[in-house]
Amino acid sequence: MNAIQPPSTPARKRLHVITWGCQMNVYDSGRMADVLAPLGYAPAAEPDGADMVILNTCHIRDKAAEKVFSELGRLRRLKEATGNRMILAVAGCVAQAEGAEILARAPYVDIVLGPQTYHRLPEMVAQASRAAGAVIETEFPEEDKFDHLPESKTPQGPAAFLTIQEGCDKFCSFCVVPYTRGAETSRSAAAILSEARHLVAQGTKEISLLGQNVNAWHGAGTDGASWGLGRLLRELAAIEGLTRLRYATSHPRDMDDDLIAAHRDLPGLMPFLHLPVQSGSDRILAAMNRKHTADDYRRIIDRLRAARPDLALSSDFIVGHPGETDADHAATMALVRDVGFAQAYSFKYSPRPGTPAAGAAQQVPEDVKDRRLQELQALLREQQAAFGAGCVGLDMPVLFTGLGRHPGQIVGRSPYLQPVHLSGDAKLIGTEAIVRIVAAHPNSLAGTLIQERQIA
Ligand code: 5AD
Ligand code: SF4
Repeated sequence: MNAIQPPSTPARKRLHVITWGCQMNVYDSGRMADVLAPLGYAPAAEPDGADMVILNTCHIRDKAAEKVFSELGRLRRLKEATGNRMILAVAGCVAQAEGAEILARAPYVDIVLGPQTYHRLPEMVAQASRAAGAVIETEFPEEDKFDHLPESKTPQGPAAFLTIQEGCDKFCSFCVVPYTRGAETSRSAAAILSEARHLVAQGTKEISLLGQNVNAWHGAGTDGASWGLGRLLRELAAIEGLTRLRYATSHPRDMDDDLIAAHRDLPGLMPFLHLPVQSGSDRILAAMNRKHTADDYRRIIDRLRAARPDLALSSDFIVGHPGETDADHAATMALVRDVGFAQAYSFKYSPRPGTPAAGAAQQVPEDVKDRRLQELQALLREQQAAFGAGCVGLDMPVLFTGLGRHPGQIVGRSPYLQPVHLSGDAKLIGTEAIVRIVAAHPNSLAGTLIQERQIA
């Protein structure tokens, strides 16, 4: 037979990515899939029988490594079931911090890669396929991975993430990030604007800019001048079709005047800001090396609220940092009462190997941490419920992102990132409309569509 051969395309292979941790990891997982697509890897919903599984890990708090080893035990059985054809990769911050330990304890792992090296995945996969032994890439490379990544091909949907900054130079006493993600680096404005336009062309309406210290972003703008995040947001807001902008996670020290002014000037910059404070005690803030006081934080909030009166806040808190007394904890509770948060994350301090606080004297007993966490969380829950209740009766612009759990139901997100459930046609997904909020639940809202006020 002389049938004409189709042009050769790589054989289709199945890739399953497991993502733990922050939104940055969610973004990284998407980009790893993009890097592997030209090799013929297509996403698979389940790890069973996959040709490659990537476990993208998080090291921020307790028991990170144990969790990885227990998951690897499960994946090992799935790998054996494929006759060891499955390539098993461990990525992310645990890989960065404990790569050698992973290969020693889990020799069936083929690839260990840190967050800064995933643009090199194709070479690593080629090496692993030659069965030349496990591949480990946890150095911080000279080149910037973003310069070597293909443009993202996979549409992210109506609400997308875009990493603009990585790493941290602030060295808070408790935090592993400066060690796992490395020094602070900013992507170029041109690359960010191009990726944003690309996302919008694929139907994205809302972009969340990501970075460990996102408001430390700075760089040469497309006009040659030096830009900060405020200016970058202004440029992004001018992209037609991009109606909503957010950014996370920020440090109070980097909330500069122009960024605060952007909250005043840009209606598309959502009135919801995640601004971690960690503690309300000046003594503990100093021990944490945060380099600001509780009153500095209050003043920033006042200025933000003056710029954008409908702004709501979210934060991160740590209870039980070494040296924290009942009086310090009371200062945190006082700050929470003063500011009033729409939402917040709170954690018990967990010593991270290699960080200054881990070796500090005066570690706080577990039962004391438990008590303080419960007290703080009760107050934060109360504030979240009050905020939700305050939304009832309001008409809010909602971006519809998917189907709800019940037939005929769709789900969207409010300006304050609350999920909003309502009856509506699936055709609305990807559009934005005004919704009247009719009920508040602990973690979501219910609403009805105000048809006549659809937003283009
Ligand atoms: N223990 C407890 N919480 C921590 N976080 C970071 N490191 C630790 C730690 N060692 C919290 C901080 C940070 C959030 C992402 O995780 O609140 O803002
Ligand atoms: Fe960690 Fe502090 Fe850097 Fe945030 S600012 S990533 S808490 S060291």
